[in-house]
Amino acid sequence: MERQIYVNGAFVAEADAKIPVMDRGFLFGDGIYEVTAVLEGHLIDNDLHLARFERSLGEIGIPMPLPLDEIRKVQRELAKRNAMTDGTIYLQVTRGAEERNFVASEGLKPNFIAFTQPKKLLGTAAQENGIKVAVAADPRWERRDVKTVMLLGQVLAKKAAKAAGFDDVWLFQDGYITEGASSTAFIVTHEGTIRTRPNSHAILPGCTRRAVLALVEREGLALDERAFTVAEAQGAAEAFLTSASSLVTPVVRIGDHTVDDGRPGPVTRKLQEIYVEMARTCETL
Ligand code: PDD
Repeated sequence: MERQIYVNGAFVAEADAKIPVMDRGFLFGDGIYEVTAVLEGHLIDNDLHLARFERSLGEIGIPMPLPLDEIRKVQRELAKRNAMTDGTIYLQVTRGAEERNFVASEGLKPNFIAFTQPKKLLGTAAQENGIKVAVAADPRWERRDVKTVMLLGQVLAKKAAKAAGFDDVWLFQDGYITEGASSTAFIVTHEGTIRTRPNSHAILPGCTRRAVLALVEREGLALDERAFTVAEAQGAAEAFLTSASSLVTPVVRIGDHTVDDGRPGPVTRKLQEIYVEMARTCETL
């Protein structure tokens, strides 16, 4: 079955899904995206993702292409047409298409597309054994809290990490880890305290981060929302990352340092377990 894609109000076969060459997302990276995971037919943390989508669009002055409830319907219809049970639903809105000009005209009509990507989220080698992350200087602009499609920094950092034998990469600035190239970075100290950087313009406010921190609070685990250095991460008792598409994933190597004994630790295991438990209570498609 050919994948069905949503393009500006219509569901079409992938081969027929078209966006103009003059689209500002294509020419300037002038657009916003969002990714929601689907696990066993449950749409995880979707309210958080849609709220961030609306906020990101507002931050760069692109109008919402549809009311939130209509966007929800698009997600559901797409999932149904593509028989999605596990994977992600991607949304993207660009400022629109017109003659190439840095300054966009007022009142452009945004282009809105959405598609599904099937992906096994649970029981993967990454989930079971943990992953190795490289460390690299954060090459991105100053408004990383906005989820723009301008992802070249992340693309190149991940490519270099893969070429060096790592699974992914954590980025740093002024000696402190900002976040993963497409995830939020966490460590657990030898005292058992979970540490992650507070939200600011330096990082994307992760929806999975927010959901995990709610679980941390519910469980009464120790939390310190404070940035940590590369050396602190490498010397931590545990490390993990979160994102819609990777849930809670253990990190067992950071650059040339093995994290503790190189195996996912108990706090990470507990958070993996209770996050999935929570996900299974999220709305069904
Ligand atoms: N990325 N930080 C960055 C830079 C990200 O790109 C992402 C997500 C996150 C985690 O956010 P969330 O928990 O809301 O998914 C943090 C998505 C998955 C992507 O680009 O595919």
